Amino acid sequence: MNKIIIAIDGFSSTGKSTIAKQLAKALNYVYVDTGAMYRAITYFAIENQLIGSEFFDSDKLVSRLDEINITFQFNEELGFAEVYLNDKNIEKEIRTLKVSKYVSPVAAISEVRQKLVQQQQLMGIDKGIVMDGRDIGTVVFPDAELKVFMTASAETRAKRRYKELLDRGHNLVYEDVLENVTTRDRIDSTREDSPLVKAEGAVEIDNSDLTIEAQIEMLLNLVNDMQ
Ligand code: DC
Repeated sequence: MNKIIIAIDGFSSTGKSTIAKQLAKALNYVYVDTGAMYRAITYFAIENQLIGSEFFDSDKLVSRLDEINITFQFNEELGFAEVYLNDKNIEKEIRTLKVSKYVSPVAAISEVRQKLVQQQQLMGIDKGIVMDGRDIGTVVFPDAELKVFMTASAETRAKRRYKELLDRGHNLVYEDVLENVTTRDRIDSTREDSPLVKAEGAVEIDNSDLTIEAQIEMLLNLVNDMQ
C-alpha cells in the first residue's frame, strides 16, 4: 500500500493527539505532535525569562531560535515519541497550564513558525506520517492525501483538558481551563500568520459525542478508500 500523509488540524483539546497517535499505530506510520514543538519553544522562553505574566521579549526569543533544537524520541514503554529540547526530555514540563497560557503568543511569531514548519516538512519527506496541529493541512502539507479538521464545543474540550490535568496530579480550577481554551481558540484563529482554518478538502469531524473508536474507524475507512 502506498504511504500517504495525514494532516489533522483543529482547536485545542479536540482530542487530535489521541486520534492521531492511534491512527499512526494502526497504520504503522510515524506520529508527530507539532503542538509539542511550539510548547517546547515556549518552555525555552519561560526558562530563559523571555516571557512571563507582564512581559514578552519576542525579539530576544527570535534572536535565540538557533539555540533551540527540538527532537522526538520514541518511548517503547509509552508507545509514542517524547519531545526533547536540546537533548533534555521535556514531555511533562510542556503539558502544564503555564506553558498552555503562553504558547499562543509564541506560536504567533512568524520566525518561530518558519523554523518549525521547515522541520515538519522534512519529517514528512518519506510520507507514512500522521501530523497534528493547526496549520498542517493549510501550510505544512497543503497537498496531504488526507486532511482532517476536528472540532468540539469549548465546554466539552475544557472538561476533557481539566480531567486530563487533574489525572496528572495538577491542582487547578475548571474555569481557568475553560478560559485558557477559549483564549487560545481566539488567538490561534485570528493571528496573522497561518491562522487556524479548515483546509480546503478537509473532512470535518465534530467529536463532541463520538467515541475514540468510532473516530478511528471512520478515518481508517477513509484511508482504505484511498488505496
Ligand atoms: O495542540 P496543542 O494544544 O498542544 O498546541 C499548543 C499551541 O501551539 C496551540 O495553542 C497553537 C500552537 N500550534 C500552532 O500554532 N500550530 C501548530 N501546528 C500546532 C500548535
